[in-house]
Amino acid sequence: MSADFTPFCDLLARAAGLHYPREKWDDLRRQMRPAARELGYADAEQCILALGETPPSPAQLGVVLHHLTIGESYFFRDPASFTYLQQHVVPDLLRRRGGAATTITVLSAGCSQGQEAYSAAIAVQRALPAGSRCTVSVVGADLDEAAVRTAERGVYTSWSFRGAPEWLLSQYFLPHGPDRYEIIPAIRALVTFRRANLIDAAAVRGVAGGSADVVFCRNVMLYLTPEANDRVLSTLETVLADDGTLFVSPTETGVPGLSRFCPVRGAGTAVFIKKASFAEAGRQAASPVRPARRRAASPGAAVARRRAAGAAPSSARVPVDGERRRRPRGDAFDEVLTEARGLLERGEYREAEERLAPLLAAQPDHSGALALAARAWADRGLLQKARDACRAALRADPTDAEQQYLWAMIHLELGDAEEAAAALRRTLYLDGGFALAYCGLDALARSQGRLEEASRQRARAVAALRALPADAVVRGGAGTRAGELLAMMASGGEA
Ligand SMILES: C[S@@+](CC[C@H](N)C(=O)[O-])C[C@H]1O[C@@H](n2cnc3c(N)ncnc32)[C@H](O)[C@@H]1O
Repeated sequence: MSADFTPFCDLLARAAGLHYPREKWDDLRRQMRPAARELGYADAEQCILALGETPPSPAQLGVVLHHLTIGESYFFRDPASFTYLQQHVVPDLLRRRGGAATTITVLSAGCSQGQEAYSAAIAVQRALPAGSRCTVSVVGADLDEAAVRTAERGVYTSWSFRGAPEWLLSQYFLPHGPDRYEIIPAIRALVTFRRANLIDAAAVRGVAGGSADVVFCRNVMLYLTPEANDRVLSTLETVLADDGTLFVSPTETGVPGLSRFCPVRGAGTAVFIKKASFAEAGRQAASPVRPARRRAASPGAAVARRRAAGAAPSSARVPVDGERRRRPRGDAFDEVLTEARGLLERGEYREAEERLAPLLAAQPDHSGALALAARAWADRGLLQKARDACRAALRADPTDAEQQYLWAMIHLELGDAEEAAAALRRTLYLDGGFALAYCGLDALARSQGRLEEASRQRARAVAALRALPADAVVRGGAGTRAGELLAMMASGGEA
């Protein structure tokens, strides 16, 4: 019989709201390996059992939480949320405040290393008209002390810019040594970071310092217990100003506590408004609706009409339910795969997923559809689904280097550096010119303090990129061109 981790899991839930049901105990054991090493235990299981029996000191708990919290983040993650902030939220706030001198306040709750907070500051700043008397104040809060310190430094590797808009590096960062980019002082001055536990209401209120116009709480709740999520959302409700906007990740729209807030239709991402302003929100373009998860249950009449007219599928949403059960014909199948690929390259993950749904319903083991669905799910943070689909796609074709690379990225997000490194090496075994795999090994080595190895991998990445035409799309890079990536890396100081 396997060891009982319940006391330790209860401790994690009480201390930080972290959710480790029995089915995640293998993950827990794996994630605890480095913490056990750091705390001087023979192995993870011994550490878990000992700390479950004798509660850890605050310092020990800090080590445990550092290793258990998944700090994966990057600039302009889920770009639609920043577009919505810039194009709707800020102009609306300015209109409501009638041109008076004002401060727009943003809280990034679970900010990790600060990428989200700085992205928000940049998006708000870009939305301000020239000569605006508005100031911007962004606070980033995270449980993990080390993440907060990194956020304060504001220095990042190119890894944090994957998928970021092209102008970001050149306009908002300064080179800071090889593959290092530092946020410009003008944006850094708008952002402060604090260590805070989101399940501690008083701490969050203290950090927010009054009410926030905008709260980001993305890719945090998926790691917390239902009780912790309810507590966090109840606190965020008190912190958010009336008419304030809450961004969660598209994977988190189903959290029950979100019923406090009014979901926004048509934002292209997961946006909610504080419920007190329900009527007001309804008058603006953002009309209150049921959560996005249920939105797709429409009968899909438009698609049915187009099919009846013999038209090719368009980029409209694919309906689910009745439509999904029909088996797509072969030619339509290829066409939809091409469309889904295009949607993924434009960052429209949810649309890609919806596009693929009928295909997977018809042929659940189709490796092409599984490979694309794995990408869509990974990019939406649905990591377990992504892992399952990726595993199935790899079973069908283990020689697919891009799929091996995706497997690596999924495991990186899951906090499994060992498996990620192994998959990156498999990627390179299959395709020695896979530049992003070298970048991945560089970032992993750097994060583990193996700086010489990191430099070696980085040089290999540069060489692989130089071997490509500048306008070639980089494998695994979601449409990024070799020249762009090379310029991004070269501006860090290396030739
Ligand atoms: C995956 S990162 C998300 C970062 C960013 N919000 C994003 O979407 O890119 C999750 C972050 O939540 C933080 N976190 C988890 N539980 C927390 C808690 N109880 N209080 C504060 N932060 C927490 C972790 O330390 C981690 O940095």
